[in-house]
Amino acid sequence: MRRLISFVLMAAVTLFVLCPLCALFGWGHEGHQVIGWIAEHYMSPAAVKAATDLLGGVPIDSVASWADDYRHDHPETGPWHYIDIPLGSDFDIAKECPNGQCVVAQTEIFLAVLKNSQFDKAQKAEALRFVVHFIGDLHQPLHDADNGDKGGNGRHVIFDGKPDNLHWVWDTGLLEHINSNPEALATELEVKITPQDTTEWDQGGIGEWVLEGHQLAQKVAYGDLGADNPAVITPEYEKQADPVIETQLEKAGVRLAYVLNQALGEGVTGASAVQSLASGATPTQAEASRIPKRLTFGGEVEEGRKSYAPPPKYPKKARNARLQGLVRLAAVIGTDGTVRDLHLINGPPLLVDATMQAVSTWRYTPTVVYGEPVEVDTEIDVNFTLIK
Ligand code: ADE
Ligand code: ZN
Ligand code: ZN
Repeated sequence: MRRLISFVLMAAVTLFVLCPLCALFGWGHEGHQVIGWIAEHYMSPAAVKAATDLLGGVPIDSVASWADDYRHDHPETGPWHYIDIPLGSDFDIAKECPNGQCVVAQTEIFLAVLKNSQFDKAQKAEALRFVVHFIGDLHQPLHDADNGDKGGNGRHVIFDGKPDNLHWVWDTGLLEHINSNPEALATELEVKITPQDTTEWDQGGIGEWVLEGHQLAQKVAYGDLGADNPAVITPEYEKQADPVIETQLEKAGVRLAYVLNQALGEGVTGASAVQSLASGATPTQAEASRIPKRLTFGGEVEEGRKSYAPPPKYPKKARNARLQGLVRLAAVIGTDGTVRDLHLINGPPLLVDATMQAVSTWRYTPTVVYGEPVEVDTEIDVNFTLIK
């Protein structure tokens, strides 16, 4: 009996010590599992097979919360699960994603690993576990917003008559009220998704999806809360929040399937490379030397890594003509952070030379994947605007 009491006490102490951390994690286990289930039904057979092979025979829903366990033992990966965009501000990735330490950059990095035949099966399996989790996290509106309270972790609320915090309410509490059986919830949500929804939801990319989440946080998660401290989570609040949570879970599932179909589906070099590596074949030296040691990212991810970036001089002729506009360049960021292979994609000719000259001097923090600096293929946008 004494042993039982001390066990119960230990368990209570452990829970008490660990639970403030629970609140910092993504959707709770249920949310991630629901997203994994929905995704499985929208993935192509080729993508399902490639994913299952990578994961050693288990489906993606069973690994959907792995990154939260990993975060527990690797606290340095904590910022990979969210992006703190201050309420009411425009998305400034250079500020809110320093050195790529946010959910936008990390999702892009692990998607690039999945698509790149240079990485081995174990690395791709880990990348897949991160992607499955992060696509879920970035659909939780409070993972895309901050009101000086760590995405609501520091905002006191009363939920079910008990004190808690706003972030936990959105990760877990509201979901438990909607339907505490994840399998039933997944089915309930899935039947509401129309073909028109999926076409619409697959538009845009990670940056747009994060902004959508941010706006929902601003309008509903924080907007409907009121100023009381602690704020009471009322039935009226839940009536506004529940449809948002349901749609975000549906979108996350459909979009997870969409990105995995692209990364692992038929006809993508990534998938065949995964299969040949999975079967134990190592690329010959000739093959290996043809594999680009390079990842491709959207320009917005690299934006957060600029360490030295003097702006171009406004060309006199362009200024006199009051010419404004956007110059878009393509470049490779070397493993040492310098800019190489710079070339023009498009832009007003009068602005091009000055842009190329400035950008060629820029420096970036190198992108490191699995401890190895990698080259990055990217686009660079430079905007010329005149003050009125
Ligand atoms: N920690 C700090 N900001 C956070 C956020 N927006 N979501 C989750 N955890 C966080
Ligand atoms: Zn969370
Ligand atoms: Zn998470």
